[in-house]
Amino acid sequence: MPVELNDTVPLSWKNATGDNETMLQNLQPNILKGHVRDRLHILLLQFAEGPEGTAAARAFLAGLVPLMKSAKTALEEVDAFNQHGTQGTPYVGVGLTNAGYGRLGLTGAVPSDQVFQRGMRHPDSLSNLSDPDPVQWEPGYQQTIHAVVLVGDADSSPAGARLAEVEALLTDSITVLARETGQTLHDAAGRAIEHFGYVDGRSLPLFLAEDLQAERDTMDGTSVWDPFLPLGRVLVADTAAPDPTTDFGSYFVLRKLEQNVRAFKAAEEELADALKLDNNDRERAGAMLVGRFRDGTPLTLQAEAGADKPVMNDFTYASDHAAHKCPFQAHIRKTNPRGSGGFEPPEGERLHLLARRGQTYGERAEGDLPESGVGLLFMAFNSELGQQFEFVQRLWANNAGFPQHGTAPQPGLDPVIGQGSRLPQTWPQAWGDDESQEVPAPEQAVTMKGGEYFFMPSLPFLRSL
Ligand code: HEM
Repeated sequence: MPVELNDTVPLSWKNATGDNETMLQNLQPNILKGHVRDRLHILLLQFAEGPEGTAAARAFLAGLVPLMKSAKTALEEVDAFNQHGTQGTPYVGVGLTNAGYGRLGLTGAVPSDQVFQRGMRHPDSLSNLSDPDPVQWEPGYQQTIHAVVLVGDADSSPAGARLAEVEALLTDSITVLARETGQTLHDAAGRAIEHFGYVDGRSLPLFLAEDLQAERDTMDGTSVWDPFLPLGRVLVADTAAPDPTTDFGSYFVLRKLEQNVRAFKAAEEELADALKLDNNDRERAGAMLVGRFRDGTPLTLQAEAGADKPVMNDFTYASDHAAHKCPFQAHIRKTNPRGSGGFEPPEGERLHLLARRGQTYGERAEGDLPESGVGLLFMAFNSELGQQFEFVQRLWANNAGFPQHGTAPQPGLDPVIGQGSRLPQTWPQAWGDDESQEVPAPEQAVTMKGGEYFFMPSLPFLRSL
């Protein structure tokens, strides 16, 4: 059976045979399902010019393969952990930029996505995304990046040990342009949160039959919102690999997004004050910015936190079409309108969904409200960057007119990640009520500090170098 990228029946990895089985053995982990980790190291690399640089780059990448595992092994490890508590092994992932393929001398076989080929620093991407001028990015991201290496584990010490093994392969011909260390933040209940304090990673597209079954068994179900996406929304044939019918990769977005926690907390308070929300209702201000309460309760489902066991994800905005519960501009409604965006039929909208794999970075003391130095290492896998990541940031988050809903005032920018000029926005005064009030838009509290597009190739490609 060939690998069916558009199959509407999800692939069961446990029952995969033939080309599907080979595909899973040849694919890097973390693409079809997020790799479990509390600690994640990221190295951004540049290879030296000339034949020596090319040879060193090829030797380094091929040398990484014994430290890596396949998607299949990673899935087996998760299963063994769930069944017997057996600890898994660290994750090592590697991606190349267009310039990186050039340094390997592989210009003919470069993955074909135009957005990938031009890179995140290209003027078209900068203007599409309304990103800051690269001279304001962190120094490492201003250079020409050739490769990224990710090293992660559920615990810091195996992650550190595997990082040391990766670093031992570096030579004088390879420059480390930047290093990032991601560390999962937890709330008092042990849930993974981002720096503004909200539970993250709840709504993710699912590609595998076993993960869909788990969502049905352990979450609130999949009868209203179907998280299934076909493999083709994330997998791309690896044309530089020995056999592109079984060797696949994925386009990987990395963006360092600094979070000004003090500014975001102030925005929550200012919105609560402007709407004169009373004590019991003040938490709703932040929930209106995000679309979920801190504990993950979707604002469109209820007026207060508390629907956190399990965290709900089986919802759409069908019963909230006028946005009297969850505002149109709330982060999760902007970035996944779940069929209510108004410009495309629901099936068209689903083509823009992307597989997020973000990780928080930066340390802070209890009670601290840092203005800089902490944030999100935003990461996501895509099969078409222009239709997925760039589409969502440009035409949804940064577009004041999205979602479209008749004659009512424009929603304005996504208050969390929107980049561009921020005009006043209207917010429902009471949950479910049609009275709304215009309030100056919250200050931008997320700043892009650098990023790049990569292709995460198949393991056979790396072995062939
Ligand atoms: C969901 C925070 C950046 C796209 C969420 C959630 C939070 C959050 C708290 C709710 C948890 C969940 O539904 O999984 C943040 C913060 C960011 C950030 C603090 C920056 C510092 C981005 C970016 C994008 C994005 C850059 C894409 C361009 C999404 C999507 C969802 C989501 C698609 C799920 C929406 C749904 O399916 O309901 N984010 N996010 N986020 N975010 Fe972000």
